[in-house]
Amino acid sequence: MRRMFVAMSGLALGLVLAMHVGVRAEQAQDPAVIDKTMKAVGPAFGAVRKAVDGGMMAEAKAGAQTLSKAFAETEAFFKSHGKADGVEMAQAGKKAADAIAAAANAEAAKAPVGELTKTCAGCHTKYRDKAADGSYTFKPGA
Ligand code: HEC
Repeated sequence: MRRMFVAMSGLALGLVLAMHVGVRAEQAQDPAVIDKTMKAVGPAFGAVRKAVDGGMMAEAKAGAQTLSKAFAETEAFFKSHGKADGVEMAQAGKKAADAIAAAANAEAAKAPVGELTKTCAGCHTKYRDKAADGSYTFKPGA
């Protein structure tokens, strides 16, 4: 009876461990995902900034929609890695992009553009590494 109980507990523990490891391995997105997303974010944000400066709101809004989608992907990436602050920064980025897309005019878009610039830098300081060859990589952080 006692041996049976020990055997059963061992089995249950093994199962829990296997499930835990399995779930983590399955959910954490590959760093290639954030690399691809950010390679789109860079030019899109450059275009948005230029468009807002030039008062071309149709272009600014189209770019802001691209950014909004990219930050939803960014949020999913950081969520899959269990980084709550990364998730928050991605959400802040999406909120600012949505504010640009909804802005009544270029003047009103300037504040969210400024906020977005700070959000980029905040996340890069913590989660972006620069390799010796000048390329960027995801830094898992603390
Ligand atoms: C929540 C975190 C986060 C936010 C917010 C964020 N980034 Fe990134 N970014 C990353 C990470 C992580 C990398 C490194 C991934 C890689 O390049 O492999 C990166 C890389 C980049 C790269 C280099 C891409 C390459 O490999 O050539 C550019 C450009 C970039 N980001 C632009 C931006 C801009 C512009 C913003 C703001 C509008 C922004 N990012 C906001 C996390 C973020």
